[in-house]
Amino acid sequence: MEVIEIEGGVPLKGTVYISGAKNAALPIMAATLLTEGKSILRNVPELKDVKTKAELLEIIGARVNFIAKNTLEVDTSGPIEPFAPYNLVKQMRASILVLGPLLARRGVARVSLPGGCAIGARPVDLHLRGLERLGAKISLEKGYIVAKASKLTGNEIVLDIPTVTGTENLMMAAALAKGRTVIVNAAREPEVEELARVLNKMGANISGAGTNIIIVEGAKELVPVDHSIIPDRIETGTFIIASAITDGEIIIKNAELSHLAVVVEKLRQSGVVIENRKDGIKVSTDGKLKSVDITTAPYPGFPTDMQAQFMTLMCKAEGRSVVTETVFENRFMHVSELKRMGADIVINGRSAIVTGGRKLQGATVMATDLRASASLVLAGLFAEGITEIRRVYHLDRGYERFVEKLKSLGANIKRRPGEL
Ligand code: EPZ
Repeated sequence: MEVIEIEGGVPLKGTVYISGAKNAALPIMAATLLTEGKSILRNVPELKDVKTKAELLEIIGARVNFIAKNTLEVDTSGPIEPFAPYNLVKQMRASILVLGPLLARRGVARVSLPGGCAIGARPVDLHLRGLERLGAKISLEKGYIVAKASKLTGNEIVLDIPTVTGTENLMMAAALAKGRTVIVNAAREPEVEELARVLNKMGANISGAGTNIIIVEGAKELVPVDHSIIPDRIETGTFIIASAITDGEIIIKNAELSHLAVVVEKLRQSGVVIENRKDGIKVSTDGKLKSVDITTAPYPGFPTDMQAQFMTLMCKAEGRSVVTETVFENRFMHVSELKRMGADIVINGRSAIVTGGRKLQGATVMATDLRASASLVLAGLFAEGITEIRRVYHLDRGYERFVEKLKSLGANIKRRPGEL
């Protein structure tokens, strides 16, 4: 197992390039199952989760290759076996995204039911109920979702919660259904909008993506696509905080600031200077940071995927901030690790009260999930002394060349073999 070792205190300086969005690449890779032929996906981040999704598509019968840097070719012209095995789904819950496309393309699908994960139970009941509204017969057999539908039929689907992958699964299934589907209380994330953009390029007829009402007019067939994926807004937010927490000054390129409006607003309230310029996003700070409260919410609210990183920044800011997590039930696992570094954080139900204003101390800490591990790297950049982060495989799931990018900004960081 590898560890990341950081000596904190270096103000980051220089330019960093943001990679393609993981949470756009994963549903778009699944969408290629809706058509026969070769699709080309560009600006695809080379991440563990992308490789896992590629492995799953290969098991299903597609041919998936990186034909150039960050360029993926997915050939779905061969026979398609609508089966997603447990050993892959347990590695990555986003495997559930093949359910809708397989059902639409083949009329049947057997997908392992994702178990829980570190940050919460994360059921898929809304995915299944939505597919039943489109006429699917769903049963659970030995831990597998078995879905059957000779022909999906458009219908109105009302989601209790604006689930991101649930909205994506249902949009993909409805794209080939007979007639009109209306998804009410749909997720509005930029990645949902990006998927609709790709599906429409493939011949689908989707309107309203990015709002809470999505209308899908079913198409007879879809054609392969050539598409370049939007930048990763969570990576962008993570680097803005990396600059701010080290009192650095960086330029962020290939990013789309409008996808992070609430995060940018909260950071500016705290005293981070963020300038959206022609040559990129310039990040700096004008002296002491002030504490700011946040509450996570579905898009366009403050994204839960930025909560851990923002909490780490509040350890530096003067005063007390309240961080409230409303999306997942167990997304404070970074708190105990930050406290080992000297952070003053008290959890009270779904809120964490952070008293900032003093340095953290380097320590050996353990990553538990993707975004928590990013927050520990940020803490290491800020802390006095050496921080050693274990189980860094979590990071590799969602950040492309994270250590290299930070090193190029001057961080004193390295990866080396280490203990469990
Ligand atoms: C997506 O997960 C993202 N993953 C997550 O990013 C992100 O944290 C999450 O959306 C929220 O923004 C991908 O896009 C691949 P949800 P998803 O369904 O779709 C409950 C990362 O770090 N729910 O919107 O699984 C659920 O339990 C990852 O990149 C149901 O109850 O999230 C949760 O409390 C982590 N029933 C809430 O809704 C369902 O059928 C939001 O979940 C579905 C969801």
